[in-house]
Amino acid sequence: MTEQSRAPRLRGGPRAALVFAAAGLLAAGAAVTMATSASAGTTLGASAAEKGRYFGTAVAANKLSDSTYAGILQREFNMCTPENEMKIDATEPNQNQFSFGNADAIVSRCTANGARMRGHTLAWHSQQPGWMQNMSGTALRNAMINHINGVMAHYKGKIYAWDVVNEAFQDGGSGARRDSNLQRTGNDWIEVAFRTARAADPAAKLCYNDYNTDGQNAKSNAVYAMVQDFKSRGVPIDCVGFQGHFNSNSPVTSDIQANLQRFANLGVDVQFTETDIEGSGTAQADNYQRVVQACMNVSRCTGITVWGIRDSDSWRSGGTPLLFDSSGNKKPAYTAVLNTLNGGSPTTPPTNNPPTTNPPTNPPTNPPTNPPTNPPTNPPGQGGCSASVSLQTWTGGFVATVRVTAGSSSVNGWSVGMTLPSGARIVNVWNASQSATSGSVQFSNVSYNGQIAAGQSTEFGFQADGNASTMTPTCSAR
Ligand code: XIL
Repeated sequence: MTEQSRAPRLRGGPRAALVFAAAGLLAAGAAVTMATSASAGTTLGASAAEKGRYFGTAVAANKLSDSTYAGILQREFNMCTPENEMKIDATEPNQNQFSFGNADAIVSRCTANGARMRGHTLAWHSQQPGWMQNMSGTALRNAMINHINGVMAHYKGKIYAWDVVNEAFQDGGSGARRDSNLQRTGNDWIEVAFRTARAADPAAKLCYNDYNTDGQNAKSNAVYAMVQDFKSRGVPIDCVGFQGHFNSNSPVTSDIQANLQRFANLGVDVQFTETDIEGSGTAQADNYQRVVQACMNVSRCTGITVWGIRDSDSWRSGGTPLLFDSSGNKKPAYTAVLNTLNGGSPTTPPTNNPPTTNPPTNPPTNPPTNPPTNPPTNPPGQGGCSASVSLQTWTGGFVATVRVTAGSSSVNGWSVGMTLPSGARIVNVWNASQSATSGSVQFSNVSYNGQIAAGQSTEFGFQADGNASTMTPTCSAR
């Protein structure tokens, strides 16, 4: 990948602090408290989830047996992107012979960890198998369609979002498509890829992904025009990924939030998909803070993925661009990211029916700072647990954050029962598994949050369509 210099670094642009209204609710029932805002998480994934977002990493299959790597992966991340294992050369090494072993290993580990998957990538000029590199015209177009169908069928229902097309635009000021064998099959190759992908797995979010598009420039303007055109013509596209590879030639610019927002305003989700920022110490931490804050300030920015775990795992390891050092210790950049996630605004990510005022235009003048105001009056006894709910609501949807607290002894697993408001339907759950999407629902712990020490808490959440009303959770513990 060749990266070109962009605009000189500008620092300290104005940032809008969004304050989100947490619904104030009455305490109901002896073992139930309605908290009014989420508390600070202690891992990247949990902190992002409290704000309705995810925090992910690129995962390499050959590192899953490294216990330090696997431990950090499980502890910190609730989204995974295979770094190379879902690329075209890996999944279809010979034409029409698909190979999913390494990618499956990542999917199964991440799923066991309770994390979701981003699929990367279905149509790209790079990392093509030899047989595809030599193809052109109708044969290549058909091979692309066959590839998308073959890979998406294998992973149907298992992928939150696919990078359907990767890096299709040129760097520099031309705003043109990148020349490639795929581009030479006809300018419509991108929309054909997206239409094929929608039919192959209608539940997957379909993203366009690129680099050097994080700020406003000729390349991101060209992507913007394509997304606008797709939206106007009904070509299915749900999200735009901004890779977020930053270094002194491609610095973090002051307009990344505005750039995310203008794409979001087209009606797509936005994500940082491959973030790494070369540097060290406070300068690096400051840049990470700016990137994460930009996402937190844009309600349709649904998550951030870093491109690897430790500096030694990075494709650019010489630039020490990641959040953990080569021994797996947290770097200052990690702390900056965690603090920024914990300080961020809750997202309001309805995908079907975006609220017209997003987030609420009338935040409370005195947002609750000290939850819960009504601590449990009747803490659970030995072996028990309690649950409390806080809500962020908008017309036609809500995000519920549920805090599960162990009683006077530790618990080894928990289940929370809730009856959803009439007409409400769950569209997304994090840090729990659920028995149903409407009506009476049981939420159970996932592998990493079943154990809670006496008096300690964990949180899970869900987003639902429909209007919120008071819900009374009941908690049972093992
Ligand atoms: C990189 C991987 O990190 C490397 O291991 C591999 O050798 C080359 O590809 N943009 C993308 C990613 O979309 O797939 C690339 O990943 C980094 C740039």
